[in-house]
Amino acid sequence: MQVKDVFTAYKDDMRQIEAHLDKYITSEVKLIPEVAHHLIDSGGKRFRPLLQLICSSLCGYKGVHRFPLAAVIEFIHTATLLHDDVIDQAVIRRGKTSANNIWGNAASVLVGDFLYSKAFKLLSEIGDIAIIRLMSKITNIMSEGEVFQLVKCGDVNLTEDEYLCIIEKKTAVLISAACASGAILGSASPDKTEALEQFGYNIGKAFQITDDTLDYMAKEEDFGKSIGKDLEEGKMTLPLIHALKQCTPEEKDKTKELLLLARKQGGKNAAQEILSLIQKYKGIDYSLQCAQKLIADAQSQLNIFADCPEKNQLNAVAEYILSRKI
Ligand code: IPE
Ligand code: IPE
Ligand code: MG
Ligand code: MG
Repeated sequence: MQVKDVFTAYKDDMRQIEAHLDKYITSEVKLIPEVAHHLIDSGGKRFRPLLQLICSSLCGYKGVHRFPLAAVIEFIHTATLLHDDVIDQAVIRRGKTSANNIWGNAASVLVGDFLYSKAFKLLSEIGDIAIIRLMSKITNIMSEGEVFQLVKCGDVNLTEDEYLCIIEKKTAVLISAACASGAILGSASPDKTEALEQFGYNIGKAFQITDDTLDYMAKEEDFGKSIGKDLEEGKMTLPLIHALKQCTPEEKDKTKELLLLARKQGGKNAAQEILSLIQKYKGIDYSLQCAQKLIADAQSQLNIFADCPEKNQLNAVAEYILSRKI
């Protein structure tokens, strides 16, 4: 089973989710739907809502709360993208000119805030206190992760543990919550809820690791984002962290200079030399092995569930993360 087959299995539900996203974006202040539609209609993968749908179904829930909850999850994700592109000074997102590049930073931040607060308004309407608690907890952790990342920007001494801490906070917790909230809707037992939470957490970490390798390796047309962007921002990610751990002191000093250059002149100039160092010390292979291990751990969490189509679907989504190009 491929991830596209999974999306096909949830085609009707995904259509409902799109309709809900559309419905909730309305505002009499026209700039809000304009900016929000620009990003939301530009073809995100909807990977987090899909996970929520699968986990809800796995835990026996097929009710109407799935759709506003999926909108909540996608809105939180969209708000983080709007904010992230301001912080990272991104030029393209999902293959289109990024919102910050069209409407400026202030509009991007404020519409991000609108979507964020809309998400919590919707959560209060759904009215499930366990889900409200979960979402409040993880959004707070996400903000903490972003600040931690900012503090560590350009730090060549960033350790692998610190990197893992950043990606757990900024990325994995939302993917984990997408899975766990499906379990909560289905009133799953605490151990099943915990298993899905851990499943999401592990695939979430793997997802950010593959994103970070794609930032070095992908084709811009496929990825829909600029390549070499992380270097340009001084963002230390696993391929480079691994290379810096293995390399000579001279190579480390040289890399420090190249990183400064990359931040001044753009990632592409310095990228070639840094990429050679990463290749020399097999930073990409190492990162993909870490992602593979996380995916295997995630899949082992599913042992608590009897064999069923939803379990196969979660396994397919997990495997997709390792082969993704976008
Ligand atoms: C991008 O997430 C941000 C990361 C956590 C790497 P996605 O790759 O899920 O973004 P879209 O929604 O498909 O554009
Ligand atoms: C993911 O980090 C940040 C979020 C969780 C929003 P990145 O900075 O790598 O995300 P992209 O690559 O811009 O999507
Ligand atoms: Mg970014
Ligand atoms: Mg990235």
